[in-house]
Amino acid sequence: MIKKAFIFDLDGVIVDTAKYHFLAWQKLARTLDIDFTEKENEQLKGVSRVRSLEKILSWGNKTISENKFKELMGKKNDDYLNHISIMNENEILPDVNRVLDFLIEKQQPIALGSASKNARTILERVNLKNKFDAIVDGNDVSKAKPDPEVFLIGAELLKIKPEYCVVFEDSVAGVEAANVANMISIGIGSEENLGHANFVFRDFTEISNEFLIELIKK
Ligand code: BG6
Ligand code: MG
Repeated sequence: MIKKAFIFDLDGVIVDTAKYHFLAWQKLARTLDIDFTEKENEQLKGVSRVRSLEKILSWGNKTISENKFKELMGKKNDDYLNHISIMNENEILPDVNRVLDFLIEKQQPIALGSASKNARTILERVNLKNKFDAIVDGNDVSKAKPDPEVFLIGAELLKIKPEYCVVFEDSVAGVEAANVANMISIGIGSEENLGHANFVFRDFTEISNEFLIELIKK
């Protein structure tokens, strides 16, 4: 059997935690009197926690002390952790399990490539951790997406060359990272946001087993 490696982003691809990140950032932005809508949120998808707060502050033309910055990051994460503490398997997005199980059946190595430092906690909550051969998250990287580091480490752990890796991503920054890494990028979301991906699907229900076979053979 030919082998590809399949690298999955987490937030917005496997689980709909993007909505919890949004709610937590929006609450924080409001306390700072900064406008924060879905439009701004789109630019934070895939972006690290530090970089996200920097962006929000710059949109509001605000400068704050280093201590205040740390305090706000802590607040945002506490709020986010509250949201994810009640997650369970029901929050796995449609057909994600079907795709994972099909790839496992076809003996394709699978990795997680997420910017989140909470990724392992979430995978445990939704009971998916044992389906991954490797996990790379926000604790393992020094450079955030769109830098390809997270995916390149994933490829290395799975011992597959980047050009034989397939990345599933919902963020603009993540698709860019996969492209820079010379991997096959699959955008999960809208063509409008993710037109720079090699393929775009609204969600996994649109990804057939036949398409996965084609990817493996490619
Ligand atoms: C990404 C999310 O997966 O992880 C971003 O798309 C988030 O919205 C980033 O900021 C960092 O996550 P965390 O859990 O470490 O704050
Ligand atoms: Mg994402």
